[in-house]
Amino acid sequence: MLLQQTDLHELMRADMERVRDRVTDAARIRYADISPILEGIVQAGGKRLRPLLLLLAGRPYQYDSKLDVLITAAAGVELLHTASLVHDDTVDRAAIRRGKPTLNSKFDAGSVILIGDFLFAQSAILAAATGSTRVVSIFASTLADICDGQLMEMIEATDLDQTVERYSERIFGKTASLFAGAAEMGAVISGAPEIEIQELRAFGTDVGLAFQITDDVLDLVGKSNELGKPAGNDLRQGTITLPVIHFLNSPDVSADARTRIANIVAGDASDEVVEQ
Ligand code: IPE
Ligand code: IPE
Ligand code: MG
Ligand code: MG
Repeated sequence: MLLQQTDLHELMRADMERVRDRVTDAARIRYADISPILEGIVQAGGKRLRPLLLLLAGRPYQYDSKLDVLITAAAGVELLHTASLVHDDTVDRAAIRRGKPTLNSKFDAGSVILIGDFLFAQSAILAAATGSTRVVSIFASTLADICDGQLMEMIEATDLDQTVERYSERIFGKTASLFAGAAEMGAVISGAPEIEIQELRAFGTDVGLAFQITDDVLDLVGKSNELGKPAGNDLRQGTITLPVIHFLNSPDVSADARTRIANIVAGDASDEVVEQ
């Protein structure tokens, strides 16, 4: 029988509430100016897809006996994600996240980078608390992949002639690596056979790639109030994504349209032109 989405949420509700509580505790910061804004972002939650994937990957195996460790790792994964968003919004100069003002809209870049680092450190503490060196190793290599993908975006995402292969490599690093790592960690902790660990990792990769492609389409067609973050920000920041790559490669794209995109990416276009 196929599980409905509502059944899935109901099935995982109690465990996901435990994850949320662990994340809230670990994200507490002791400075009165920063704390309410950080709490606002963490409490506003997000979809918490990565910890959900981690728990679901563990469900077919020794789930109940490993539940505490799975919840610890799931909270670590969500904090790693949150930390990467704090840094990403600084890089992307985004003013809202999850419908709330971003830290970078309130504080200088130096402070925001340190708050992001603080959250990365909290996620590493949770990874270490699992007691599994393999989980710690997946955490570390995932963080390296995220940084690599984000750097690749900064270095080459403005290239109008970039290939779908380079784009895929980039979104694997910045996004799919964490979905892959989350599924892998859930399977490792709950004692899945190695072949199934690898299959779950591959599944996580595919979900993550599809997720980022969807996010990139929504950036172009969605509205800021629906997304809870600025729409149209990718092109405005000079980042060419899959829909734009396909548009640029379509046989009937005019020289004029190409020039307009080149101007937007170079930061030489007004907001009205970007919105068109
Ligand atoms: C945002 O991820 C960053 C991307 C990889 C596109 P989510 O859309 O999962 O963010 P939240 O956690 O639900 O806010
Ligand atoms: C995802 O890319 C960034 C991270 C993985 C941290 P985006 O820049 O597209 O994410 P949003 O759209 O700001 O959420
Ligand atoms: Mg962004
Ligand atoms: Mg985006």
